[in-house]
Amino acid sequence: MKAPEVIETVDALRARVRAWRAAGDTVALVPTMGALHAGHVSLVELARRRARRVIVSVFVNPTQFGPNEDFARYPRPFGADLDKLAMAQADVVFHPDASEMYPEGFATTISLAGPAAAGLEDKFRPTHFQGVATIVAKLLLQPLPDVAIFGEKDFQQLAVIRQLARDLHLPVEIVGAPTMREADGLALSSRNIYLDERQRKFAPNLHQAMQWAAGRIRAGEPVELAVREAAAAISAAGFVIDYLEVRDARTLAPPTPGQKPGELRLLAAARLGTTRLIDNIAVGD
Ligand code: PAF
Repeated sequence: MKAPEVIETVDALRARVRAWRAAGDTVALVPTMGALHAGHVSLVELARRRARRVIVSVFVNPTQFGPNEDFARYPRPFGADLDKLAMAQADVVFHPDASEMYPEGFATTISLAGPAAAGLEDKFRPTHFQGVATIVAKLLLQPLPDVAIFGEKDFQQLAVIRQLARDLHLPVEIVGAPTMREADGLALSSRNIYLDERQRKFAPNLHQAMQWAAGRIRAGEPVELAVREAAAAISAAGFVIDYLEVRDARTLAPPTPGQKPGELRLLAAARLGTTRLIDNIAVGD
C-alpha cells in the first residue's frame, strides 16, 4: 500500500499534473472536505476506473458555511483520511490551507441562478452554493482534470456544479456517483458523527419515509398527498423538516402535472436536535 503524495500548493499540483500529462496519463479529481467515509472511498474507486491518475482534494471550505453553521467543529481527521486514501490508491492528496485557496485580497465569487435558486438548500443556506461554486471552480481550474466525481448525496450541489461547468465551458466531465448507505438506509455523511445514540436510532426514518412516499407516487398517489403523509411520519420520528419536496430530477423545478415518476427526485433536509440531515432518492424505479 503506497501512501499518496500530499501536495499543499497550486503550483506544485500543476507541476505534478504536467508531468502526468507528459506521460500521457488521464486525471480524475475527487473534491472533498475530508472526514472521509465509505461514500468518499466509493468516489475514489469510481475515479480510478475513469482515469489513470487520481487526485483527492481535502479542504474544509470556509465560504460555504453560514455564520451559525459547523465550520469550527467540522471534523478534520487528516491522518485517518490519508490512511483511507492510501487503501483506495489515490495518487495525490491536495491539502491546501485557507491562505492558498483564498490569498490576501481575494475578491471574486461566482453568482448563481438556475438550480442554485431552486428553493431547497438555498432557502435555508443562502450563501452556501456561492461558496461551493467558487471553491469548485477553483479546484477544477487548478489541476484541470479530465473528470471530476461528486456524490449524488448532495443532489442540488451536483446540479449546481453541472450548470457551472456548462456555463463556464470548463473542459471537465462532471460525474455523479450514487449515495452510499448504512444497512438501515441512513445516507453516509461526515456529519452523522454528531448524532447521539438515540438520534442515530431514529435517523433512518427519514430515508424510510422517503422510500415509502416514492412507492406511493409510483403506485399513482398524487405527489402532494404522498409527500404530506411522509412528512407526518418524519415529524413523528422527531425530525424538524426544512423541506421535503419532489422536483424535476434534471432542473430541480417543481414537477408539472402528469410528469413521469422516472423524471422526478424526492429531496429532503431535516434536523434531529442540532444535526441536519439531507437525503434524496429517485422517485421512479
Ligand atoms: O461536497 C463537498 O464535500 C463540498 O461541498 C465540496 C464539493 C468538496 C466543495 O467544498
